[in-house]
Amino acid sequence: MIEGDGIGPEVTREALKVLTKVSKKLSAPLEYNKLDVGAKRWLRTKETLTDKEMDAIAASDAVYLGAVGDPKVPPGVLERDILLKIRFELDLYINLRPCLLLPGAFTPLKGKTSSDINFIVVRENSESVYAGMGGVFKRGTPDEVAIQEDINTRKGVDRILQYAFEYCEKRKHKKKLTMVDKANVLTHAHGLWRRAFEDMGKNFPGVARNAIYVDAAAMDFVRRPEAFDIVVTNNIFGDILTDLGAIISGGLGLAASANLNNLPSPDLPRKGQVCRGLFEPIHGSAPDIAGRGLANPLAAILAAKMMLEHLGEATAADAVEKAVKKTILEGKIFKKDSPDLAVPTSEAGDRVCSYL
Ligand code: NAI
Ligand code: MG
Repeated sequence: MIEGDGIGPEVTREALKVLTKVSKKLSAPLEYNKLDVGAKRWLRTKETLTDKEMDAIAASDAVYLGAVGDPKVPPGVLERDILLKIRFELDLYINLRPCLLLPGAFTPLKGKTSSDINFIVVRENSESVYAGMGGVFKRGTPDEVAIQEDINTRKGVDRILQYAFEYCEKRKHKKKLTMVDKANVLTHAHGLWRRAFEDMGKNFPGVARNAIYVDAAAMDFVRRPEAFDIVVTNNIFGDILTDLGAIISGGLGLAASANLNNLPSPDLPRKGQVCRGLFEPIHGSAPDIAGRGLANPLAAILAAKMMLEHLGEATAADAVEKAVKKTILEGKIFKKDSPDLAVPTSEAGDRVCSYL
């Protein structure tokens, strides 16, 4: 468990309360250890994540993360050397981000209900501009050149598409997979995605497929979210679109995510690797509200629910989901017509526990 920075420890505390409360429903006790990773340690020691800590992470069944990032640390240091490092070194190439409006949660979209806003984004999590390839030439001069390369490999694209098609089949919702790209401009990179999508689609005759451009997708998330079932997209578009997906489905305080690798064990990149999942709310450390009891812990609690599912603890996961739904329906924890909490963070966690 990495609590991280800002509201990270605040929301993690509530998720831990819920996990403790639900422990009787587990088939085996949940053992965890906390890693002192994040801004405080970096400011003290300039260390982010040591090799020894990476080994410990790789040897565990799952990682649970609050959020990292702090205004006192240069942008990118903690995000790149902690969060992206874990995702990349464990090759957690699938980022699942549900956009499900739970009944009673607030959406700013007029006339849309939980049956309209009910889709899941499958984000490629191991390539794109996040690979960190490129560099700066003549830094700080008027002739400065900055290049950040967009990596798209056939293997990387194929494996995320395969996961998305399989997931779409398994979900049994609309059986419709929408790919979001920018193939009209990024003709090289997203031409590859389009070809791979057509080829892979032939193996899934039961899944309807369509491909749309990211700008149109941004509009349709707002205009007609009911058009989506499973959305598959690259790393950066998935990152950006899912904040939009979050705000239409109850706010960043309700949006959870799983970072996964489902490949056979011999294909895992790290020696001794057992870990195939990192679970986190999609929000960051929210320095603007940290320390004030304003952070909504439900995203963190739902991330813990996704972790329980991954660990094969379906009964406990179901119980947590039901408790979160009841808490929202009870209608007491949110301000009227708003995604903002009406009660302190800890009370929201207590409400969920009261239903377990
Ligand atoms: P953010 O997600 O931290 O905050 C965006 C806005 O949403 C803020 O107004 C914040 O108050 C609000 N918000 C976020 N979570 C909330 C919650 N649980 N309840 C109520 N309101 C909530 O994104 P921002 O401000 O762009 O980034 C802040 C820091 O977090 C940066 O250092 C960034 O790099 C880092 N970050 C880390 C992530 C991670 O650890 N997975 C993901 C995203 C950002
Ligand atoms: Mg993001």
